Amino acid sequence: MRKNIVAGNWKMNTTVPEGVQLAKEVNEAVAAAADLKCDVIVGVPFTHLTAVKDVIDMGKVGLAAQNCANHTSGAYTGEVSAAMVASTGANYVILGHSERRGYYNETAEMLKEKVDLALENGLKVIFCCGESLEERENGSFKDVIGAEIRDSLFHLSAEQFANIVIAYEPIWAIGTGKTATSDQAQEIHAFIRGLLAEHFGAQVADDTTILYGGSCKPSNAPELFAKPDIDGGLIGGASLKAADFMGIVTAF
Ligand code: PGA
Repeated sequence: MRKNIVAGNWKMNTTVPEGVQLAKEVNEAVAAAADLKCDVIVGVPFTHLTAVKDVIDMGKVGLAAQNCANHTSGAYTGEVSAAMVASTGANYVILGHSERRGYYNETAEMLKEKVDLALENGLKVIFCCGESLEERENGSFKDVIGAEIRDSLFHLSAEQFANIVIAYEPIWAIGTGKTATSDQAQEIHAFIRGLLAEHFGAQVADDTTILYGGSCKPSNAPELFAKPDIDGGLIGGASLKAADFMGIVTAF
């Protein structure tokens, strides 16, 4: 059975003290919530990982970095390796976010290397994919999403793939207030699950958690999460206030 997950992606927000405070609030709210139907993860800046780790109960709240390097170690000033991330105690890394692909020119090949290094270091990967508005409008969106998944993930074995969570995030819905309708999101989630079934087999496809991301908030999460192939969310803006984030966590 696949897991439901609600993961926060704090992006480049909060100082360390502010992040620690937010993590404490999320941790307390998760601890107080009875019978949650999903796993909860906070995706924090690199600088926050160790401090946040110290204030969360990792039996209840997972910890993700938002990126890692595509090299093992060495002369890559400013980069942070998968081993470094893992050594903080983090158990997840978000890879392939459209902001990384778009603003930092991350290619499918680089993401493939990052995925491999993350898995080698025992991190689970939240792998993002999604189309631009132009690709949505010109009808190429399924080709784009299919290529993103195939080119960075289809070299993995089924056993390795068990450590991958997919996040479908239409770029036109990120931070814009424009959510994909639940039917639009369901269509793509089912399409992704179909791709996984063709390549890895029905069991792997059925076991894979596929998250929706893009202006997900407490008001629209229940309708999105009610869809059969939507197993939770990757939450940007609404993960920066514990009450909003918890409103999504409890939407299941
Ligand atoms: P948003 O961001 O919830 O602010 O739209 C989602 C994301 O980019 O992960």
